Amino acid sequence: MRTVRTKAELRAALDEPRGGGAQIGVVPTMGALHGGHLSLIRAARESCDTAVVTLFVNPTQFGPGEDLATYPHDEERDTGIAAAEGVDFLFVPSMEEIYPRGFATAVAVAGLADVLDGAPEQRGPEHFHGVTTVVAKLLNIVQPDVAFFGQKDAQQAIVIRRMVEDLDFPVRIAVLPTVREPDGLAMSSRNRYLTPDERERAAALFRALRAAERVAAAGGGSLDVALAAARDELRRSRIEPEYLEARDAEDLTPATDFNGRPVLVALAARLGRARLIDNIVIGG
Ligand code: PAJ
Repeated sequence: MRTVRTKAELRAALDEPRGGGAQIGVVPTMGALHGGHLSLIRAARESCDTAVVTLFVNPTQFGPGEDLATYPHDEERDTGIAAAEGVDFLFVPSMEEIYPRGFATAVAVAGLADVLDGAPEQRGPEHFHGVTTVVAKLLNIVQPDVAFFGQKDAQQAIVIRRMVEDLDFPVRIAVLPTVREPDGLAMSSRNRYLTPDERERAAALFRALRAAERVAAAGGGSLDVALAAARDELRRSRIEPEYLEARDAEDLTPATDFNGRPVLVALAARLGRARLIDNIVIGG
């Protein structure tokens, strides 16, 4: 594996495989690699000839009160993990490489970025504007055939798909299932903020989503009943969600019933220092 720190070096390094017809896959990450990232990396290795992982903690997607300063950062550890997975290129740009002096452009997906995590009382739309701007840059720098994202961040994947379609990026977006701990907690770099008690209670997030799914599967259950079952499960672990909502899994319009279309049930909850998100797609 080769670690590359500049755009020019990465472009030059990818010239050869690209010229030889190699399919290039990219996995954008903020590092602190865990099993969720590994599943994306393995998919890139399997379905592409050349696998690129990007490691950049993007400041523009963090709000003022968020955890940018404490976000876990261990390049040496991530390098070892990526190398062991057979990654070809690890792109670790500096801040100046991504946001040079005078940088002034933003890519904003309207509507989709304004709900759920992007609602003003949640992280706000600026969070997704930060994500789409940096992902647009990474796609232009790497020019991959396929870019891999996780269903764990369902809204992020939907927003990125929209951007890629609207702006004609010649890339296929692959979204892979959420990887979970044995008790159901979705793997996340932020899980390390949890105290042992919070870690135990955090398993209630997935139990809540499963409870909603069970009600839906039993039939006749309305979406409200399903969401109430989820809310009950959270309450049993003393968790008050920041949001718990059902939306169309493709366009994020509010869902009012299970009408044959896939419904995304998404939630966010704060446990101590950690703000956790999770989701499940029901039906369709
Ligand atoms: P990060 O949180 O590092 O996640 C990188 C990728 O891993 C994302 O596509 C995310 O959805 C996926 N991922 C995280 N946890 C997962 C899990 N438990 N199962 C499956 N996939 C999981 O998401 C970002 O970074 C950033 O916003 C980024 C896209 C890199 C832009 O800065």
